[in-house]
This record gives sequence, C-alpha cells and structure tokens, in this order.
Amino acid sequence: MNEQRLHSTALELMVAQKGLLAMDESIPTCDARFKALGIEQTVDMRRSYRELLITTPDMNAAISGVILCAESFNQSRRDGKSFVQLLSDANIIAGIKVDAGTKDMAGFHGEKVTLGLDGLRERLQSYASKGARFAKWRAVFTMGPFTPSQACLDSNAQQLALYAALCQECGLVPIVEPETLMTGSHTMQKCASVTELVLETVFHHLYLQRVFLEGLILKINMALPGSEAALPTSADDIAVCTVKTLLRRVPACLPGIAFLSGGQTPEQATQRLNAINKTYSGHNASVPWPLTFSFSRALQQPVLAAWSGESDNVITAQQILEHRLRCNQMALRGEYLPQMEDTAVHEF
Ligand code: G3H
Repeated sequence: MNEQRLHSTALELMVAQKGLLAMDESIPTCDARFKALGIEQTVDMRRSYRELLITTPDMNAAISGVILCAESFNQSRRDGKSFVQLLSDANIIAGIKVDAGTKDMAGFHGEKVTLGLDGLRERLQSYASKGARFAKWRAVFTMGPFTPSQACLDSNAQQLALYAALCQECGLVPIVEPETLMTGSHTMQKCASVTELVLETVFHHLYLQRVFLEGLILKINMALPGSEAALPTSADDIAVCTVKTLLRRVPACLPGIAFLSGGQTPEQATQRLNAINKTYSGHNASVPWPLTFSFSRALQQPVLAAWSGESDNVITAQQILEHRLRCNQMALRGEYLPQMEDTAVHEF
C-alpha cells in the first residue's frame, strides 16, 4: 500500500472550499428520476445528462472530485472524449461507485445489506488503470424501534472495511459511506444517537481490517430529524448536534468528512452545511477535519428538472448547477445567505 499517495489524494479531494459531485446513481435510480420527469430512459439519455453535468463550465472552481457509476465511467462525450479524460483535463479527480447496491437482509425484516465484494479486487485494479483515484461504497441503516440491529450494523461495517482495505491495496482512496436514512418521524437526537452507533461500529471494523485512516474519507449524513418529524429544527441546532456526534466517534487523523444530502431540499442542505462551517470551521476551526459536501440530489434535482431531456435546455441546466455549486461554496466558508438563491452566478 502506498500510504503517502493515498494520503495526498485524500487531501486533494478535501482541498479548502471545494466539495464532491456525486453523480453515481445506479441505472434503476437514474431511470426512476427520468421517468418522474417524463424523460426517456435510455443509455443515450443517461449519457447526455451526464455529459451535461461533467461539461458544466468552471466546475473545478467548486468541485475537487466527481463520483461516477460504472455506466458513466465508461462513457464519453459525443465527440468521443471519455468522461474520465474530460474530468482529468479539468483538474477534477474521477471516482467510482463500486458497491452493487442494497439488498434485503435475510432474517431482518426492513433492513438492508450492501453487496459487491465478489470480484472487487479485479474491478478496482481495472478502474485504477483507467484513471480512477478514489471509490465509494454506501451502506444504509433504517431507524425504527428495533433497528438498526447489531447484525445489520456489523455486517455492513465489516463489508465497508473489507472494501476500504481492497481500495487501498489498489491505490484508490475509499469513501466510506454509512448512511442513516431520514425516513421516519424520529427526532434529530435519535438520528444522532443511531449515527453515533453506526460510526462506532464502522471505525471498529476499519481498525480490525487495518485500514489506513489517513487515506480514507468518511461520507455521512447530518444529524437530522426524520422526514415525517412533527417539529421543525433549526440549521444551528442541526449543526451543533451533527458536529458533536462526529467529534465523539470520528478519529482526528481522518483527512476529511463529506456530507451526503439524503433527501434534504437543495436549499436546506446548503443552509445546514453553512451553519456547520460557520460554527466550526474556517477562522473558528474547532474540528480536526474539513467538513465539505458530496451531494447528489441536493445538487442535481433542479438541474435535472431544468434539463428535462431537451438539448435546448442544456445551458440553462448547467447555469443552475453552477449556481448551486457557488451557494455550496459560500456555505463551506460559512458565508452563505438565503438571498444568494436569487443572486446571479457572476455576482458571487
Ligand atoms: O449514495 C448516495 C450519494 O452518494 C449521495 O446522495 O446526496 O442524494 O444523499 P444524496
């Protein structure tokens, strides 16, 4: 394992004032989003949409890395230049989602386990030889009166650790993504305590598996109330609760932490990221790691809606992505204001 190289890639991904664009939706997930907007669900439509995202002007001002899915990793712009090459030309690091998705966990109703370890070493070697420098694996935990079970926690954490070790062996920085889902009516505090348990289990298995923590990035949910929770919670409360949870369970040597958006609206995700950074990072730094974004839905949702499968809408959709990136960049500095939602990109 080349520890120095893994560490420097992780630091490049976590460079100040940049985040990650997650565009690694599986084919069924992408198709479901297309279907909801009446967009044709074909390989070429998915390719066109991903070309739109990747070729957004000046994306590297706010994005250090892009997470691709297997399909788009092998796709190209219409003129034949590969997406991976386009990213490299733009000084953006290419990453690849390598898990095979979540499946029902046998014997544990309502819980999921993430699969994908079969043949993973060979796939990672192949992706690395084609230009990938990091990878991603997501596990999910549902919250209920009896979940997540210890069996679900251990099974997913062990697979995340095996995946991370294989990535590092192949020279790829693993993004380890254990997501506690927002679905439900639980409180923010309940989400925080489950997230804490998840983190404890994941870092225990990473330790057992001898994963090099300085060459790994954690992708995690904020501590949020459930999507059906009765009471609203302020961005400041979410920031305090989220960071307190991380401080209790994440080793200080980690190069960085990136938040997923997990079903928050784009504005909510930005506002909460801003509250986190305003309180804990930058000049007031009281956390040992950079705290950035690795959003999928919170970046892509308005872009996809604006595009709607029409080539005439590409420029408008790219401007919307550029605008969301600027808002999130301001949030990384703790300087985002809600009125920036109406600010034109060139006025930032
Ligand atoms: O695997 C999920 C993505 O990496 C993050 O997606 O921001 O929509 O939660 P999200």
